[in-house]
Amino acid sequence: MPSIKTALIIGASRGLGLGLVQRLTEQGWQVTATVRDRNQPSGPQSIAHVVVETLDINELHSLNAFTEKLKGQVFDLLFINAGVSGPRPQSAELATAKELGDLFLTNATAPVRLAQRMIQQVRPDTGVLAFMSSVLGSVTCPEGNDMVLYKASKAALNSVTNSFVTSLAEPRPTVLSMHPGWVKTDMGGEGADIDVQTSTEGLVKQIDAYAGKGGHHFINYKGETIPW
Ligand SMILES: NC(=O)c1ccc[n+]([C@@H]2O[C@H](COP(=O)([O-])OP(=O)(O)OC[C@H]3O[C@@H](n4cnc5c(N)ncnc54)[C@H](OP(=O)(O)O)[C@@H]3O)[C@@H](O)[C@H]2O)c1
Repeated sequence: MPSIKTALIIGASRGLGLGLVQRLTEQGWQVTATVRDRNQPSGPQSIAHVVVETLDINELHSLNAFTEKLKGQVFDLLFINAGVSGPRPQSAELATAKELGDLFLTNATAPVRLAQRMIQQVRPDTGVLAFMSSVLGSVTCPEGNDMVLYKASKAALNSVTNSFVTSLAEPRPTVLSMHPGWVKTDMGGEGADIDVQTSTEGLVKQIDAYAGKGGHHFINYKGETIPW
């Protein structure tokens, strides 16, 4: 009998993170999901068999308590999905130091700090470490110029991820920087192209397809490669 696969989804209170938890549990995975506020009734607490933990990736005391609590657990998938869109309007001229700090900490450095702390708990060889990037993080992407700071934060995430991955000894898990499509969530808005179900079905399909391949890949939910 095949053993049950385990996943840890970071930033799963709503939107794509919650969708990933739903798709994986439907497919028989044992899922641990993190939220910042356990009192949101519509979050992963409402899904049977999901273990819910509290984590704000930006807060060191929260990260320390979380990593200590999960010590010794091994995951077939660690998916770091948490992200923010940043200040509006997005302009290098108008953004304050605090706004820029919050955006780049949340989207670019806190995800990799968490990955550094937990990489030994991702199953070597067949495990997958996934980051929620965006096609807007591709440095030559001509779209989304009203999101100039968000774009830069996702390009920075890809860069910091690359530095981290190249520093890892073998055996390494497969590392994916993933674009979910333009998705109808609080961040993506009602006018987006696809729904959470379509995006997360595709993301999980690609995670299954890439497990065991090794390397670091920038792909979308359909499995298409995106230029860095
Ligand atoms: N929607 C799209 O079209 C699209 C396209 C490309 C990439 N993405 C990326 O996909 C990811 C999810 O986006 P979404 O559309 O699902 O957005 P969303 O609905 O706004 O959800 C964002 C999630 O991130 C969590 N989060 C934010 N800051 C956090 C922190 N400091 N610590 C822990 N969790 C934190 C939020 O938790 P709270 O509920 O506590 O705020 C929430 O669960 C993001 O990384 C986003 O950049 C989205």
